[in-house]
Amino acid sequence: MSRVAYVNGRFVPHGEAAVHIEDRGFQFADGVYEVWAVFGGALADAEGHFERLERSLGELSITPPMGRAALAVVLKETVRRNRVREGLVYLQVTRGVAPRDHAFPKPEVPASVISTAHSIDRALTEARAERGAAVITVPETRWARCDIKTVGLLPNVLAKQQARKAGAVEAWFVDELGLVTEGASSNAWIIDKSGALRTRDTQANILRGITRETLLKVMAREGLKLEERPFSLEEAKEAKEAFITGAGTLVLPIVSIDGRPVNGGEAGPVAKRLRRLYIEEARRTAI
Ligand code: PDD
Repeated sequence: MSRVAYVNGRFVPHGEAAVHIEDRGFQFADGVYEVWAVFGGALADAEGHFERLERSLGELSITPPMGRAALAVVLKETVRRNRVREGLVYLQVTRGVAPRDHAFPKPEVPASVISTAHSIDRALTEARAERGAAVITVPETRWARCDIKTVGLLPNVLAKQQARKAGAVEAWFVDELGLVTEGASSNAWIIDKSGALRTRDTQANILRGITRETLLKVMAREGLKLEERPFSLEEAKEAKEAFITGAGTLVLPIVSIDGRPVNGGEAGPVAKRLRRLYIEEARRTAI
């Protein structure tokens, strides 16, 4: 089956999909993105991602290229045309095409919009979640606006590559105080040695994860208490359990940090339960 991509108003064969060389996303990483998990052909946590997209665009003073309803049509059509039932849909919006100049184009130019979708083998990812995954840690080297979901991801790319080389799925950034900020493409959580479920508060310089937000609601419903406060790498290494959340990994148990086993090297029961609960909720509310 041939893949297709959405590029500025048209669906084109994936292999031929292209943007201009003077697109500001290409020249300056002057753009933002979102990723939705797809369950049964529908978008998970749809509104949360739309809200964050609008916020990211607002922070960069990029005029939204279309309203939510139109965007939902584009995303769902990308999903449908690629015959994705279980997978991901990606959206990127940049400031558009203009002769290279650091300052914004004047007058404003139309934003560039692209979308792609691909399938995920849930049997494979469920098996991985059963086993759990490893993380390594790297120094926090990113800018002070990690709350904006920009395509400027070079520190994340380098951290992820370091993880991949070490046989880990994720790299956690650790700041100068020894506190874990978040993963290269996920939020970080632990159950500390006193049994408290913890993840960093979103006042910190991290992305306000939408999977995180939905999981917080699920946890409140289940009567699970969460402490939204930072944890150190030392606390993480002594934690009872650890896991990460994101549209790509959903809720993924972590079984080692820098080579040191967590929960005896096995996926923790709470993390596994939260994964199941999150997926049930995301499937139930997907649109
Ligand atoms: N990444 N932190 C960072 C730095 C991320 O890039 C992501 C998501 C998250 C989790 O956010 P959410 O739960 O909304 O997916 C946290 C996406 C999946 C990516 O870059 O592919």
